[in-house]
Amino acid sequence: MVNTRLFLSTDVHGAEVTFRKFMNAGKVYKADIMIMAGDLTGKMLVPLVKNTDGSHTATYMGQQRIANNTEELNALQERIRFLGYYYFETDQEELHRYQSGELDIGAKFREQVADVLSRWVGMIEKHLLGTGIRCFMMPGNDDDPIVDGIIAKSSYVVNPVNEILRLDDHHEMISIPNSNITPWKCPRDIPEDELQELIESQASKVTDMKNCVFNIHVPPYGTGIDVAPVLDAELHPQAGQMVPVGSKAVLEAMKKYQPLLGLHGHIHESRGAAKVGRTLCINPGSEYAEGVLHGAIVNLSEKGLKSYNLTQG
Ligand SMILES: [Fe+2]
Repeated sequence: MVNTRLFLSTDVHGAEVTFRKFMNAGKVYKADIMIMAGDLTGKMLVPLVKNTDGSHTATYMGQQRIANNTEELNALQERIRFLGYYYFETDQEELHRYQSGELDIGAKFREQVADVLSRWVGMIEKHLLGTGIRCFMMPGNDDDPIVDGIIAKSSYVVNPVNEILRLDDHHEMISIPNSNITPWKCPRDIPEDELQELIESQASKVTDMKNCVFNIHVPPYGTGIDVAPVLDAELHPQAGQMVPVGSKAVLEAMKKYQPLLGLHGHIHESRGAAKVGRTLCINPGSEYAEGVLHGAIVNLSEKGLKSYNLTQG
């Protein structure tokens, strides 16, 4: 009798404490396989400006913070990392060169993404080595292509994209990191027809669809696990006005192929599970900036899905 336990989490977005919780979750929940369903990258780079008196200033979330000594600087850096932001040390003169475009702030951002993710991958390898727990970390629509190269260097963590992975003797998994086009025009946003083609090309290689897992970053449209706030022209959320923003191509694929499971993320505020015919679709949601790890435990048997539950910790 096969019993395979998956632990699913998603959208950690650079947040240090939330990622460390993910790293520990495999052991805590006694999972055989850990899956991160996309969006590893943080959303902001904070300049940590060294002043002439030796103090440092950082401005984020609309507030300026000052660190007057090493202890305060360490605490400030830790707080920035907790929130999923990156920082780099600079001075007023260099900051002006970034602000004027003379220096490339995008390159600086990617450098920080690479540094943090390389460190994370190293940490999780060390933590899981010898446990037998497999770890899949998929990029999401927010993740720059450099993310794939960093995961590829690992001898332990696997980027599941572009592979039909075997979870056990009875279950295969396809993985798609993209989403339909978002208002933020993220690196892996693609039109619905391209998303459909990607899913079709992966699905055509699956040998046993009824036991297959579709690990697709964006949830299926209109299933209640894809609901986000309405945005105004400046992309500010409108309180109390929610709308489905998932992918219609993913919904159609779920209806057409009826796999065992859909594993999703992307819409942080839409934690839950929904059925599309026989297919159970799960979005654990995310509160990465609060240091809260949302997840889902899924127990598989050779007959299919035994049980699942959402976790929070
Ligand atoms: Fe996303």
